[in-house]
Amino acid sequence: MERMLDRIAQELIPAFEKAGYDPSYAKVTVSNRPDLCEFQCNGAMAAAKAYKKAPIMIANDVVGNLKDCPVFEEISAVNPGFINIRLSGEFLAEYLRRMQADKDLSVEKAKEPKTIIVDYGGANVAKPLHVGHLRSAIIGESLKRMGRFMGHKVIGDVHLGDWGLQMGLIITELRRRQPELPYFREDFEGEYPEEAPFTISDLEEIYPAASKKSKEDEAYKEEALEATFQLQNGKPGYRALWNHIMRVSVTDLKKNYGKLNVEFDLWKGESDAQPYIPDMVQDLKDRGLAHEDQGALVVDVKEETDTKEIPPCIILKSDGASLYATTDLATMVERMKLYQPDELLYLTDKRQEMHFIQVFRCAKKAGIVKEDTKLTFLGFGTMNGKDGKPFKTRDGGVMRLENLIGEINEEMFRKIVDNHEIDPEEAKKTAEIVGLAAIKYGDLSNQASKDYVFDIDRFTSFEGNTGPYILYTIVRIKSILAKYENAGGSLNEGQIHAAVNESEKALMLELSKFNAMMETACEEIAPHKICSYIYDLANAFNRFYHETKILTEENEQQKSSWIHLLMLTRDVLETAIDVLGFSAPERM
Ligand code: ARG
Repeated sequence: MERMLDRIAQELIPAFEKAGYDPSYAKVTVSNRPDLCEFQCNGAMAAAKAYKKAPIMIANDVVGNLKDCPVFEEISAVNPGFINIRLSGEFLAEYLRRMQADKDLSVEKAKEPKTIIVDYGGANVAKPLHVGHLRSAIIGESLKRMGRFMGHKVIGDVHLGDWGLQMGLIITELRRRQPELPYFREDFEGEYPEEAPFTISDLEEIYPAASKKSKEDEAYKEEALEATFQLQNGKPGYRALWNHIMRVSVTDLKKNYGKLNVEFDLWKGESDAQPYIPDMVQDLKDRGLAHEDQGALVVDVKEETDTKEIPPCIILKSDGASLYATTDLATMVERMKLYQPDELLYLTDKRQEMHFIQVFRCAKKAGIVKEDTKLTFLGFGTMNGKDGKPFKTRDGGVMRLENLIGEINEEMFRKIVDNHEIDPEEAKKTAEIVGLAAIKYGDLSNQASKDYVFDIDRFTSFEGNTGPYILYTIVRIKSILAKYENAGGSLNEGQIHAAVNESEKALMLELSKFNAMMETACEEIAPHKICSYIYDLANAFNRFYHETKILTEENEQQKSSWIHLLMLTRDVLETAIDVLGFSAPERM
């Protein structure tokens, strides 16, 4: 469905033409003086130079051609040459009726759907998730949903860190603790046990212990490096242990991501890319792209137009070991082969920007991706505590995801129970739903690249620009609709009619912006624009709600018109939060 601004321009274009001016001047914007008008056209000012005429004369000519146009309640030329516009109530109502009848709520889906892989989450197996992983999961999930909403085929891949030194460290620590296990016996020939010799809590303790020791004890570190090397070269006992580590960790990760309402289509990781490395390296050499530099194999990726130093992309270290960049390049080889994506979108902390510049350039140069494969990196800022430093727990440690969610939910629970009488079981479930909205909205409402302050008190507030406020608005609407139905009203009959007061019209105008906002937010991969829109919409709704007695209205047609306006508002809000990755409870 056409955007409102374009729809209005459709009326202005012939009016410009008829008055003898080029139709390209008929551009319409939302008014920056809402006290004076709803929309404006500044085309007369722009045309003045070309036509050597006073802008007000041009504006008057154009407006003269639109005096009886039913689209406008008011259209006027004002000094020095603005065209001020107010829409007619009936025209606006008609626009919303069409929007309500459209299953996509007026949003235009992509004409040529693309295949997009979103690489997000990025948890490291057996290492604790940290707040950077939290942001990657939250923002990535929303970008995946935004792409899907626009009609693209989007594949989400968690791209686990599952192939590094942490595996060697865990193996080493296990061997020191339980040398009798069959995994460590050189002469072992039987089947390895099915059951892992550790639980997730064991792993959570083993990895930090091993990591600490390796920093203090050189021999220990050597052992861990050696174990990593042997694992990577296929030593059967270590492979078996690796499989155990993977299974135990992935089960736990799925649970954690599940709590965040984050779902991946692919649970691949760095290990999946390893088989592609030898051929890829050979190819880089054959093409003359990779050369030796102080023993390492590197590809130069600097370009003439660079304003800062872009170091070469290191493919192999001098000992032949592959690196983060190698794995990311090989993963691209695999992705191109298996999924033929048009676009790859990566989400990590913005401190990894240089890595992705190097990898992207190398991939293009080497033809690993196609010339027109779009490679996008969205680097996000740091989640800080109230002290302005990277978020920590009270005792100074990095917060575990589970605890973080737990703390938010507890706070939400307290607020919900304080608010009204509610069964504790239901309150707990509701607290989880609202708590998730608090965390996600708190994150997504900021421009991703910026740092933000994680503030539990603010995020869980029912007032202001918060997730709970948005949910509260939705719940309020649902409760009015339920009461209407309980009193015998039907949601299927009736339709939206012209606004009868200013706050109703303001709400309607806000709703009419949905498609343009959504299309822009998805184009610019900017979930914060969706947040700021739903905040404005929730405010417009609440103002209307406070000024209007909906259920006691005696004129049935009027009442049903408002009910339909409420349904549309609910649908827009619920669609938007679903794209952001959270949902609303029935009551709160
Ligand atoms: N595991 C990495 C980390 O914790 C993030 C992976 C991001 N994705 C990628 N393809 N490099 O920093």
